[in-house]
This record gives sequence, structure tokens and C-alpha cells, in this order.
Amino acid sequence: MKVLIVGGGGREHSLVWKLNQSAGVDKVYCAPGNAGISREAEVVPIEVTDIPALVDFARKEEIGLTAVGPELPLTLGIVDAFEDAGLRIFGASRKAAEIEGSKVFTKNLLAKYDIPTGFYEVFDTPGPAREYIRKMGAPIVVKADGLAAGKGAIVCQTIEEADEAVKIIMEDRQFGDAGDRVVVEEFLTGEEASFLAFSDGRTVLPLATSQDHKPIFDGDKGPNTGGMGAYSPAPVVTDELFHQVMDRIMIPTIQAMAAEGRPYKGVLYAGLMIEDGVARVLEFNARFGDPEAQPLLMRLDGDLESIMEAVIDERLDEVSLNWHDDASICVVMASGGYPGSYEKGKVISGLEEAEAMEDVKVFHAGTAEKDGRVVTSGGRVLGVTARGSDIPDAISRAYRACDAIHWDGAQYRRDIGAKALKYLK
Ligand code: AMP
Ligand code: GLY
Repeated sequence: MKVLIVGGGGREHSLVWKLNQSAGVDKVYCAPGNAGISREAEVVPIEVTDIPALVDFARKEEIGLTAVGPELPLTLGIVDAFEDAGLRIFGASRKAAEIEGSKVFTKNLLAKYDIPTGFYEVFDTPGPAREYIRKMGAPIVVKADGLAAGKGAIVCQTIEEADEAVKIIMEDRQFGDAGDRVVVEEFLTGEEASFLAFSDGRTVLPLATSQDHKPIFDGDKGPNTGGMGAYSPAPVVTDELFHQVMDRIMIPTIQAMAAEGRPYKGVLYAGLMIEDGVARVLEFNARFGDPEAQPLLMRLDGDLESIMEAVIDERLDEVSLNWHDDASICVVMASGGYPGSYEKGKVISGLEEAEAMEDVKVFHAGTAEKDGRVVTSGGRVLGVTARGSDIPDAISRAYRACDAIHWDGAQYRRDIGAKALKYLK
């Protein structure tokens, strides 16, 4: 069977890599892909938002299964368009993807179904938002309702910062229509974890635990990014907490979506804040995490294509997931200046040396090919991913590989996975 992956980041490279291992998959295409993906799949120059062109391509090439990486095409209805054309696709429908596409929708859903999260209010004008901020006090969090390329959640330490956040979102309209409404919500403290599960609309099949590192600098300092590294398993999610998250968050959310007439099929990703043994929802994503997908798919011991087929056919109750017993981590190497402005086109060296290391896989994100060489073309450039017998072993393998890779201005955190170590003593 032919498979199409939609997207061109590190997450999509890991999907290509994993699906190439499926017995039923003969050929993998990826639109638009990147330099690393082009060595393992046929890349197709179609943007992820050009849904009619993707449908045409899938029809013409008789693609048997399409899987979608990023949120934007999901919220634009790529799954609905493929299904209308009689094509098989793995991902959340437009109505289901609203769980990521609208923070207002999600907070209201959580409140209606009594799923643990922080307090909040929704505003469509700045004045009352500012009044509420004064009433609740700082720290507080101000979020644009709609998608804002990961920049729409502003954590404010002071009332002044929160005023400024309201201005950026509602008055300057930095995120366009995404800022028509804001959610002002409780600032939650604790340790974050990512919790992902497959769902076919009824059955919820959890993936292994994982944790991202959002801030750019070591020790979680500096501005938030798309994610600077991830690892699995995440020991902050104990067995007890795992069951709590399934029983109080994941299963109720899938049931709530069904009750709302928005059956949820695909991967549901909960961003959690954990404090004193209790998990609360920060946000949901309607897709695999990036970079969480990289270590998770490296640990998944099973056939991803057949799992995706079971989701589409609503027979996930017949599937169980197996995981390699060991640990995996992904260290993101980024362009100098990211998450602010950065230069592109820097020649990357050392890729072959890193890839030759045992149990290491270098997933590409923002890379392109120029004159036969791999160059940087984005903020997050590579996801250097390693498996090891345990987290410390995986950490040392991943960093050995990072040390072999160079380009002008490359930056990466030195402490990916370090948060796990305090639980392993
Ligand atoms: P989001 O875009 O909603 O995922 O938020 C991005 C990041 O902002 C999260 O990963 C958290 O680190 C932080 N954040 C978002 N909402 C809150 C909150 N209510 N309390 C504390 N931190 C938050
Ligand atoms: N790792 C964060 C995200 O995928 O949104």
C-alpha cells in the first residue's frame, strides 16, 4: 500500500520512518517533507494547507492511507475533505480538531463535563478581560482563542504583563482573528507532562508517557518554543497518576466529544500540569506532539499502519500497544536566534557520523538540500533521537550524537531528560 504523510517537520520524519517499517506499506510519500525525509520517502511539493491539491494527489496516486502531522490542516478540515472523496485518512475531523483550534471551546467542554483544569473566563472585549485580571490577580495566563502558531498562550507574572497580553491579542491583533476572544485563566504550577492516546471515537488507547521541554534555555529559562526536546517514559507520571489521567481526563474527554456530536478519531494529546499527585489539563492538541512523537515512535514496538487502520475502522478495542522496555530521548537542535528571528541556509556537518552511532536516529525538521548539501531552513532544525537501556543511557547517546553535528549558530539545551533523573534515585 502507498501511504502519504502530511507535514514536513521532525514529527513527520518520525512518522515516515516508522511507517516504512510496516509490513503493509510499500511506498511512503510526504508533503512537503524536508531534506531528511526526502531520503526515506518521495517528497511532494504541496503545502499542508492546500487540501484540494492533497486530495487530488491522493486520488491520482491511489494512496491507501494518509496521516496528518500538524494541526492547521486538521482544523481546516483535511480529514472531512479526504473522507468526502472516499479516501482513508488518519486524523481528527474539523469538528473534533476544535479541541485544539479553540481554547474557548475546550475550556467550556472541560467545565461542562467536570474534567480537571484551572479556573477561567472568556472575553470578547478588552475592558472586562482587564477587570477580571485585576479581580483574580497575577500570575495569570492570557490566551488567544484560536491557533497562533504556538505563541497564543501568554503567561503573565504581573497585572501589567497581563494588560499587555490583552493588548497584543485583542488590540494589536497580532494573531489576527485568533484574537477575537481571549481566555483568561488560572496560572497552574507543578511539573508538565504530555499524555497521548489513540482513539477511534470510543476506545482510548494510551501511548507511553512522555515529557516535552518548552522553554528555549536550560533550566526552563527563556521564552517558549515549539519544544526543545522530549523523552519517554516520563517517571513524573507514576502508574497511579497514569490511571488517574485515563479515568478523569482522557476517557471523559473522548466521551464528552462523542456526546457533543464531535466523535474524536486520531491522536489526542493532553498537555498536563501535575502537582501534589493531581493532573490538570493545560490544553489539548489534536495530533502527535512534536518532538514527543520522535521518542515515542522510537519506543513503539508494533505496526503503526495497522494501528491507524484500526482507528479509522473503529476497532481499536482489538489493538494493544507494546513498548520497548528501554528509554528514548530527542534533543532538538535549533537555529541561533530561535524562537526569535534566525538565519537560514547554514551548512550542516556531521550528520553521517551521528547517524552511524548505535541506536541513534537524526530526524530532520527545518532542513533543505542545496547544491547537494543539507542546510538549515527553519527554527527547529534536527531532532537527534536515541534509545538507551534507561534514561541516563539514552541521554548520553543522544548528546554524543549532538556533539558530532555542527553548523554556524546551532543551539540546543544540555538538560533534556534531566527532570527524569530525580525520580530514578
Ligand atoms: P499552550 O499553548 O496552551 O500549550 O501553552 C503553552 C505553554 O504555556 C504550556 O506548555 C505551559 O508551559 C504554559 N501554560 C499554558 N497555560 C498555562 C497555565 N494555565 N498555567 C501555567 N502555565 C501555562
Ligand atoms: N511539543 C508540543 C507540541 O507538539 O505542541
